[in-house]
Amino acid sequence: MNRLIPRSSAAQPAPPGVMVIFGASGDLAKRKLLPALYNLMTDGLLSDHFRIIAVDRRDRGAEAYREYIDTAAREYIKNGLSAELWQELLQRIHYLSGDFQNADTYTRMSSLLDDIAANHHTGGNCLFYLATPPDTFGEIATQLHAAGLAMEQGDQWRHLVVEKPFGRDLATAKALNKTLQAAFDEDQIYRIDHYLGKETVQNILTYRFANSTVEPIWNHRYIDHMQITVAESIGVESRGGYYDKAGALRDMVPNHLLALLSTVTMEPANSLDGNAVRDEQAKILRAIQPIPPEQVLTQVVRGQYGEGTLANGGTAAAYRDEERVDPNSATETFVAMKVMIDSWRWAGVPFYLRTGKRMPGRYTEIVVQFKEAPNMMFRDALLRGEQVPPNTLVLRIQPNEGIGMSFNAKVPSPIPQISPVEMDFNYSDYFGGGPTTGYETLLYECMNGDPTLFKRADVIESSWELVEPILDVWSALPPRNFPNYTAGSWGPREAEDLIARDGRAWRPCNVCNSGK
Ligand code: BG6
Repeated sequence: MNRLIPRSSAAQPAPPGVMVIFGASGDLAKRKLLPALYNLMTDGLLSDHFRIIAVDRRDRGAEAYREYIDTAAREYIKNGLSAELWQELLQRIHYLSGDFQNADTYTRMSSLLDDIAANHHTGGNCLFYLATPPDTFGEIATQLHAAGLAMEQGDQWRHLVVEKPFGRDLATAKALNKTLQAAFDEDQIYRIDHYLGKETVQNILTYRFANSTVEPIWNHRYIDHMQITVAESIGVESRGGYYDKAGALRDMVPNHLLALLSTVTMEPANSLDGNAVRDEQAKILRAIQPIPPEQVLTQVVRGQYGEGTLANGGTAAAYRDEERVDPNSATETFVAMKVMIDSWRWAGVPFYLRTGKRMPGRYTEIVVQFKEAPNMMFRDALLRGEQVPPNTLVLRIQPNEGIGMSFNAKVPSPIPQISPVEMDFNYSDYFGGGPTTGYETLLYECMNGDPTLFKRADVIESSWELVEPILDVWSALPPRNFPNYTAGSWGPREAEDLIARDGRAWRPCNVCNSGK
């Protein structure tokens, strides 16, 4: 049966405008931004009056830049490339060489923007994308403001896009917000968490709130606990310099894991309006119980990988032997934690979160485990040693995006026998596998001025508030047993103990070779 449901053709191209990419020769531009713009173009979602300014510290000239990005970005464009469309996109690139610290760069940018507006009818609209290291965000925003480039005149819009990390703790996040807000209004600032660009994350809200059967059981009366796992098989690759100063907690928790947690636990918003949804996300984040310092070491587990064998049989070096990592590093590459939410809906329901590098597979999923049924009808089966496991719902974010539900069924047999079975929805069966980088929707929404999928300053700050006591305790009490898990394993034993203490276990991974 062909179940493919055509994608909506109702979407209109984004309004005219210029995307100014700071850091145009960097990794993000080639891996994500240019491929995402290309995908938007093939879907007819870019305006005919859309242009790009590539801002680059080196001075290679427009033609050489086009040649560079042509080669560099090609491999990240999946599902076939139309040479004609790709060339068309490349021809829309203007090049601006300059140092982001130099005021002259912004003066030249301003006149280039005027020229482009006059010649290409971009309406003066502008999206400034900071694909640069985080310590440059404040300075670039301030310079844009000083050059008058943040100012919106008439109907035109000027949006600033920043990528994580938004600070490295609560104080630096607040300071960064203050600097950005001094240069741009809050509603001009688009803070990207690329997890919110994933279709399956967005689908959580649709699943929860567009189905009348889900919400009535989505609370402490029916749900025993939830687990959120973001496992990665890769190590730190070439990012040792950044990662060794960040660690798994900063790198993943205040942003991606809390984005997943808030999406799966928030109250329904009154509308899909950006602030309505983000108000609910902010509310639920504020309701997470802060972890008291004396409980940090029991409620939060940290780990660092040593050398080990991977699922594909290869060997992996220890974290401390990775490039640009301190050989005595105390940085964690794994974190698991238990959090509780102080709300009527979630009273008494634990949420177990874990994320790590060099795990047996790459997968992200949210497991919703329901409470057991009273089961008195099946007392005999239980006495015979049969299991009547509680129902489980799994929201699979990646790979094999979809939703699976396990429930108990009768095995055909004269004696009553019970077995868990599964119902499975695969996103690709219904909607195909679109060529997506995860940035298409984010860029499109930013051009359209819809902030729903972007993080507001208060959401960022509440997330750091939760993480801050952990950072404080960990820095006061450095780990004594690192490395404490082997590459290719499920993290330190303490992570199993964390959930086992409550009589529960992590759900085994279905897509990993090592079974668990
Ligand atoms: C990034 C982190 O934000 O997310 C990386 O900095 C991590 O360390 C990545 O690998 C994971 O994203 P995804 O989309 O591959 O799950």
